[in-house]
Amino acid sequence: MFSSFVGNEMLSLIALISSIYLSSFVSAERTFTVDWEGKTFLKDGEPFRYVSGSFHYSRVPNQYWEDRLKKMKTGGLNAVETYFLWNFHSQVEGQYDFTGDRDIEKLLKLANDTGLLVIARGFPFACAEWEFGGFPWYLKRYQDIILRRSDPKFLAYVDDWFDAILPKLEPFLYENGGPIITVQYENEYGTYFPGCDQDYLQHLVYKIREYLGSDVVLFTTDRAYTVRALKCGSVKTELATVDFKVTNYPQFYFDVLRHYQQDGPVVNSEFYTGWLNHWGKPFQKVSATDLAESLEKILALNASVNFYMYTGGTNFAYWSGANYVRPVDSYDLTTYDYDAPISEAGDTTWKYYVIRDTIAKFFPVPVVDVPANSTKTSKADVKLDLCGSLIDFLDIIISDNGFITSKYPQNMERLGFDYGFVMYRTQLKENMSGRMEINFGVDGLGDRASILLAQTGNTSDGAVFLGTVDNNHFEAPKLSIDSLSINEGSFLVVIVENRGRVNWGPHMNTQNKGIKKNVTLNGNVLEDWQMSHLQLENLNKKCKKGLRSIQLESDAKLSTVLPLVYQTTVTLDLHDTFLNTTTFSRGVAIVNDFILGRYWPVMGPQQTLFVPAAIRNSKQFTLTLVEFEKQSEDARVDFLDFPILDAY
Ligand SMILES: *[C@@H]1O[C@H](CO)[C@@H](O)[C@H](O)[C@H]1NC(C)=O
Ligand SMILES: *[C@@H]1O[C@H](CO)[C@@H](O)[C@H](O)[C@H]1NC(C)=O
Ligand SMILES: *[C@@H]1O[C@H](CO)[C@@H](O)[C@H](O)[C@H]1NC(C)=O
Ligand SMILES: *[C@@H]1O[C@H](CO)[C@@H](O)[C@H](O)[C@H]1NC(C)=O
Ligand SMILES: *[C@@H]1O[C@H](CO)[C@@H](O)[C@H](O)[C@H]1NC(C)=O
Ligand SMILES: *[C@@H]1O[C@H](CO)[C@@H](O)[C@H](O)[C@H]1NC(C)=O
Repeated sequence: MFSSFVGNEMLSLIALISSIYLSSFVSAERTFTVDWEGKTFLKDGEPFRYVSGSFHYSRVPNQYWEDRLKKMKTGGLNAVETYFLWNFHSQVEGQYDFTGDRDIEKLLKLANDTGLLVIARGFPFACAEWEFGGFPWYLKRYQDIILRRSDPKFLAYVDDWFDAILPKLEPFLYENGGPIITVQYENEYGTYFPGCDQDYLQHLVYKIREYLGSDVVLFTTDRAYTVRALKCGSVKTELATVDFKVTNYPQFYFDVLRHYQQDGPVVNSEFYTGWLNHWGKPFQKVSATDLAESLEKILALNASVNFYMYTGGTNFAYWSGANYVRPVDSYDLTTYDYDAPISEAGDTTWKYYVIRDTIAKFFPVPVVDVPANSTKTSKADVKLDLCGSLIDFLDIIISDNGFITSKYPQNMERLGFDYGFVMYRTQLKENMSGRMEINFGVDGLGDRASILLAQTGNTSDGAVFLGTVDNNHFEAPKLSIDSLSINEGSFLVVIVENRGRVNWGPHMNTQNKGIKKNVTLNGNVLEDWQMSHLQLENLNKKCKKGLRSIQLESDAKLSTVLPLVYQTTVTLDLHDTFLNTTTFSRGVAIVNDFILGRYWPVMGPQQTLFVPAAIRNSKQFTLTLVEFEKQSEDARVDFLDFPILDAY
């Protein structure tokens, strides 16, 4: 009634008022542009540069985002740089998740409320020591997709992701009242071989502009070694930037940039505060004072700079990446602390203050207290029960649709499995005894196999653990057993761990996980396989009566059937803590049904896993360890109030 009474006159009055309002708004318009001749960014028409820090929201529970962003602000930064990782949002083909730790609207609002501008990266490739560089596993279901090229099959997937993510970013662009000032397309593409595909880069630019408009500042970053890298990594009409580590002479790298791009601002998009880390290598550190001296030189050149990382976080679950190395790949640690100014657990380190003081020589730094370190809790001597062999829990951990069967083994992606572990088993057809050789073929494993001989294929009764085998790019991974008796009808069980997909370089294109070739036993191809994805998180609270809860002393045989499941209930104050895994060898740690990540203290350097309070909502929780390497003689763990990441 009322609305029809208001009528057209009222509506046109409203239209008039809003158009007056809009035009006055436009005169104070928010703009963020590049002044090419002035060699600077312009924010609302004024020269501007940023001092920003990398923070990957996928590596920090969302409950802590506000804390990290506030610390970035009080550290003197005016912007935060983050990766929008495709695979973090899409674990199922065609489906995208933007809730909880993937709630980018929450993230962008928090950044804006904190007074930080946002540099959006990862469209579509990230690297970042993250699983498959941020690409979803399902791209490897098909052999014929050429990644990071203008291959129509690849571009169709990219477009689908862009259709999902870009409309969500659009309202948060600076010009639309939000914090996003720049958007990166591709990443270090100039040093990707076989890259240098201008059609591909043009497609990305076109597609991003379709959603975000013609005014948004797009950029790339490349290693400033050669002009060729810049030329191959970017589109001439868009801003190119470089990345480099601590140096006494940053001008050198900016000169390379200037050689390629004479105008516009100079930016170091990845100024390394630490470095990436692999299992079995010393933990990489960068001196705070060296970093500060180099920073001062960069800032004196009027450059913009982004610290990579400013707060690193954690590769929870199976999100850590890998590097292709011959003969055996290198796998990234579970921690992504990165020796960054803000630690994995969100603590402000000495490096944080040294950098802040340096920034203060050039920019006003907020005169407020830096938010305090979080409270940590500790507990010694937490005893775990040995619940049995992993194979005893098969009915709990196999995927809902059970086993997939095929004559020859299928790789993980072809099976439709994403991350973690795959069980392969085949029934042996004859009695055999004597020397046995199980052979996976050159490069036939992705990545490590635990091999069992089991009477029934789903219990450890009468089963024997035969050993573990790592993939090898040069020689066939194989297991030889001097003497073994096999009864017809028993099962060869192979549990294959995907230890993280390669996140950089041409080998991203050629990798698959699981069993990739045929498996032979004494030269004969094994046929008729059953394959299932293992959901280790289902082990939560399953170590109790009715199932095996056997002490080591009472069942010596069981102890030989790796992998083993250990579990206990822990009561601990609701604070962050670090799990000291040193009494165990190699495996996966799980809190309730949250997979903390991989532990491998015998390899080092990482000894402790970060256990954020945010992943549990009560003091009491279930801790599960699935141990693949060795039965622990002392099945105890400690919770510490500090991390140990550099024991090597
Ligand atoms: C961002 O913050 C500004 C104030 O600094 C506010 O005007 C604007 O509405 C905020 N935008 C969003 C998307 O929250
Ligand atoms: C940096 O900018 C200031 C102010 O615009 C200018 O005076 C100075 O010459 C610039 N320095 C360099 C190294 O470009
Ligand atoms: C915060 O934690 C960091 C890293 O553990 C430590 O170096 C620093 O001294 C702590 N700060 C305070 C005020 O305790
Ligand atoms: C295999 O061995 C079992 C006993 O160990 C025997 O009962 C069976 O007949 C044998 N099978 C063949 C085909 O020889
Ligand atoms: C496995 O062996 C069969 C039979 O020899 C062969 O047809 C098939 O191509 C092999 N598969 C692979 C992946 O080598
Ligand atoms: C971690 O656990 C190991 C094995 O129990 C122990 O020797 C070591 O002292 C612990 N580390 C700390 C810092 O407590």
